Amino acid sequence: MTAQDFILKSYQTTVENGSVKWESPSNIALVKYWGKKEHQIPENPSISFTLSNCKTITEVTFTKKESEGFSFDVFFEGIKNEAFKPKIQTFFKRIEHYVPFLKEYHFKIETSNTFPHSSGIASSASGMSAIALCLMSIEQILTNYSTLDAPDGFYNSTYFKQKASFLARLGSGSACRSVEGTLVVWGNNNTFEGSSDLYGVKYEEEVHSNFQNYQDTILLVDKGEKQVSSTVGHQLMYGHPFAKERFAQAHDNLAKLKTILASGDLEAFVKIVESEALTLHAMMMTSMPYFILMKPNTLEIINKIWAYRLKTDSKVCFTLDAGANVHVLYPENEKASILEFIKTELVSYCQNGHYICDQIGLGANQIEF
Ligand code: DP6
Repeated sequence: MTAQDFILKSYQTTVENGSVKWESPSNIALVKYWGKKEHQIPENPSISFTLSNCKTITEVTFTKKESEGFSFDVFFEGIKNEAFKPKIQTFFKRIEHYVPFLKEYHFKIETSNTFPHSSGIASSASGMSAIALCLMSIEQILTNYSTLDAPDGFYNSTYFKQKASFLARLGSGSACRSVEGTLVVWGNNNTFEGSSDLYGVKYEEEVHSNFQNYQDTILLVDKGEKQVSSTVGHQLMYGHPFAKERFAQAHDNLAKLKTILASGDLEAFVKIVESEALTLHAMMMTSMPYFILMKPNTLEIINKIWAYRLKTDSKVCFTLDAGANVHVLYPENEKASILEFIKTELVSYCQNGHYICDQIGLGANQIEF
């Protein structure tokens, strides 16, 4: 598929109004996306686990209007929210070409998260994918569920999800990996046939049972606003002294992960995942300007995890986003022991003792009325 294939060419505007609703999860990258080109094209491929409990629930009500330009209101947890509007305005501008009905309707966007807003958990992946999916449902309604744009003339779920992921990417890169589960690859690469820079692709290769219901407990080390937004962070990869090597490494790690996911080699998994997390932060520390997003407690937790692995035969490991919080990843069969370890040894490093238990999930769901 090319970007051209996602331009909606014909639709009817006889529909006066309607409502659609989706819930879409967050995701956690194993191989990180860090660095992008124009139009939200990633510099390197990434792969993520889709999460299950951390999600955004969004209802979009659309009403036909006569006025020009975009018109929308955003309600976050029931309260009108002006702060989210600029991001959505930018998103609408970027996607208007592909969903031209955007200017013909007024949209009421009502959204809420299952995780606390001030938790330092990025909600852009779940939030942008939820809106993208709602817009795809509206597109379906306006085309009466048939489209000449899809290769076979109707909205099969592949076209629907691909375009939803394509639109979500234009909202926030990592959001394109939230539409499906349990693993999603985004970015052209030689390891996965059918991979694309334009949208995330569901991982269809063999996955060993060791990874079934893989657990992710998110330790909330710092709930404050990030010192540097991901968008600014990506820009720092322009002219970065190690960029070329880093992008090549991501391709290598992706290829290695494919073998690991099939064989169930958890020791090898731990090495790739932790190295990816530290490399992401190393890129921030070696850019100009430079940043340290980890906090002392982030390092305390990492050291505790390493010590725990040394004294047990646990396969627990950590990964990080562009922030101080720690995602603790472990196989389902270690659930009881790791939760005990977290409660006794790690919780004291979390802000107000807060952490969130999650596990890998299957992707977004439409909520019927
Ligand atoms: C560190 O998707 O938040 O979480 O495309 O600018 O919205 P934008 O960036 P974003 O970047 C996420 C970066 C990351 C790694 C990852 O999720 O792959």
